[in-house]
Amino acid sequence: MSRLSERPVTAVVGEARPHESAALHVTGRALYTDDIALRTPYLLHAHPVCAPHAHAMITRLDPKPAYDVPGVVRVLTADDVPGINDAGTKHDEPLFPTEVMFHGQAVAWVLGESLEAARIGATAVEVDYEPLPSILTVVEAIEQESFQGAQPRLERGDVAAGLAGSTHVFEGEIDFAGQEHFYLETHASLATVDDDGQVFIQSSTQHPTETQEIVAHVLGIASHQVTVQCLRMGGGFGGKEMQPHGFAAVAALGARLTGRPVRVRLTRQQDMTMSGKRHGFHATWKVGFDDDGLLQALEATLTSDGGWSLDLSEPVLSRALCHVDNAYWIPHVRVDGRIARTHKTSQTAFRGFGGPQGMLVIEDILGRAAPVLGVPAHELRRRNFYVEGQATPYGQPVRHPDRLDRAWQQVLESSDFERRREEIARANAENPHRKRGLAITPVKFGISFNFTSFNQAGALVHVYKDGSVLINHGGTEMGQGLHTKMLQVAATALGLPIERVRLAPTRTDKVPNTSATAASSGADLNGAAVKNACEQIIARLAPVRAQLGVATTWEELVRTAYHERIQLWAAGFYKTEGLSWDAVAARGEPFKYFAYGVAAAEVSVDGFTGAYEVDRVDIVHDVGDSLSPLVDIGQIEGGFVQGVGWLTLEDLRWDVSDGPGRGRLTTPSASTYKLPSLSEMPADLRVTLLDRATEDGAVYGSKAVGEPPLMLAFSVREALREAVAAFRPPGESVELASPATPEAVFWAIEGGRD
Ligand code: MTE
Ligand code: MOS
Repeated sequence: MSRLSERPVTAVVGEARPHESAALHVTGRALYTDDIALRTPYLLHAHPVCAPHAHAMITRLDPKPAYDVPGVVRVLTADDVPGINDAGTKHDEPLFPTEVMFHGQAVAWVLGESLEAARIGATAVEVDYEPLPSILTVVEAIEQESFQGAQPRLERGDVAAGLAGSTHVFEGEIDFAGQEHFYLETHASLATVDDDGQVFIQSSTQHPTETQEIVAHVLGIASHQVTVQCLRMGGGFGGKEMQPHGFAAVAALGARLTGRPVRVRLTRQQDMTMSGKRHGFHATWKVGFDDDGLLQALEATLTSDGGWSLDLSEPVLSRALCHVDNAYWIPHVRVDGRIARTHKTSQTAFRGFGGPQGMLVIEDILGRAAPVLGVPAHELRRRNFYVEGQATPYGQPVRHPDRLDRAWQQVLESSDFERRREEIARANAENPHRKRGLAITPVKFGISFNFTSFNQAGALVHVYKDGSVLINHGGTEMGQGLHTKMLQVAATALGLPIERVRLAPTRTDKVPNTSATAASSGADLNGAAVKNACEQIIARLAPVRAQLGVATTWEELVRTAYHERIQLWAAGFYKTEGLSWDAVAARGEPFKYFAYGVAAAEVSVDGFTGAYEVDRVDIVHDVGDSLSPLVDIGQIEGGFVQGVGWLTLEDLRWDVSDGPGRGRLTTPSASTYKLPSLSEMPADLRVTLLDRATEDGAVYGSKAVGEPPLMLAFSVREALREAVAAFRPPGESVELASPATPEAVFWAIEGGRD
């Protein structure tokens, strides 16, 4: 076992503890960025001037009339930008555009003494537009060859030969939707300047370092003049990996120009209208099976809907390509990926980061093919699992496939799968109007950033003279429990009760050059860095402990060490070893390990309306040796339900008519965009952590948990397909739209009736 994964006998990691801020969250005492803003004197409020066109040139922009509005202090336009007028890293995202690229895009910002003054001021800014033709759907983009970024190809073996040698060949296509993050806290930034013109930004950001870099380049100053702090986020889900930078830059620019604190906080409607979402995809595919239902070859083209600019679309696409196999061995593979440019928000990271989209393609294929192959879907899936010694299409050996087998077997048993399947078949035969469906699906998800350089992290650990400990690390807290885990790691590494350790907010002047808290790797990377810092301190204390004897208290040890002039603080660092990734060739071993999980879901569907309920879900998920079991179970439940929302409820719609509203998001609020809530929770949800699952390559034997459980939700989509099939003659392939809303389920049932 590696030093990194070894766990002492008495360890605070592994204890079931509540989230470190749980009490603050539920009593409303937890502070978020905008709470701090509203406690700040002399505050200015920013409001955007939003374009009413999906695509247009700005022919005139006159801020003057806004200054007649009482309370308006300053209008920010492109002329005010001292540095680079761009909010992204690809230089395709002008902060103040001359060409409008989506409906609702901000073309200027107004600062006011009150938000109301800024809002009225924004309506007074005069803007003339020359509307241009717009592209809204992926299908339109494909027809017009509107693409952006790289077009990678993932290839192994000889697809033509594989298809030729197959006894069953199927072709199909699917167009599936994206997803709104709907974090409870919308985008928020607060910027202040000091006497030296340095900028301090509090931002709801998953990537403080990149927020710092973008603010610096917009202002034309160096990174050491910009400090970004993230206290906590009320959810990020990937939506705050890149999207906060522009809002932070607006606040920072306003603060530099006025000398006053500036607050940007979007309303829900602005947030949904202006910020990027999960990529929807369009996929065409051809697949071959042999007589036993074993996959022989897959040929596919995946086109993601990137929206107006690239931001994270390229890495999201890479991860989609790396997950089209999900848990299945496919000897011959060729998958082409491309990114459509459309006149919509810039689609971005969202829990799973393309992985769910890649997996949806293969799970859809298996679900559609099973009845035609005459093999039950769960049996078809099981037969195609990876076995030891096989590698993914990009060349990474699949380590520990036996864990997937174990999780699968455990779910089959604990869910009483076979007996319920028979019982459901009997019940369905008797009930023509209400059918039940039961399905089981696997998840295999690669952990690490594909881009090798991002797999590094830092930490700063201070031991004060009284023996109390303050830790800082490069990760951000968005509700996922990272800080809870880091406190447990530090307490374990130092051998202290957790009460002796406190955690300070994430700041770029404490730990520099950090990666985004993303790719589920927050605990792996920062945990190893925290552990490293603690171990440096423990090593320095060892000679003092030898002098004083093992019975000495921590306080005495620290006091003595101080007087002996021993450094009581340390900076920790970690980089994940053994990774490689060639993005152009789409080959390498980009992942430290795979996280596995299995879910079985049962649904019941009403044949008259398509309305359905999720009646029971059984999950076994692999988190290695959990750092914090309560947190991990919360992540599994939350991820699963968020996935169910994406696949079955959440329905983003844009106005695709040729009318004046073309390009407008028509579902910009909670009243028009249906999210899963308590009433959509499965009536019976059973989550178990896979046992005997120590991960040798990660901190204290744990595994990442943030994203993989989202993809357990395929079980619900496949259960709906089973239920729809029960309304139709046996042996028919069932096509299901995504999201499989009650309406879509109704049409799937109808499709079989005529
Ligand atoms: N859980 C909560 N409560 N809120 C969030 O915003 N984001 C998810 C996941 N779980 C999120 C969450 C996403 S997209 C990722 S990548 C991981 O948490 C990031 O945190 P980690 O790396 O510490 O797991
Ligand atoms: Mo998560 S989508 O990697 O922020």
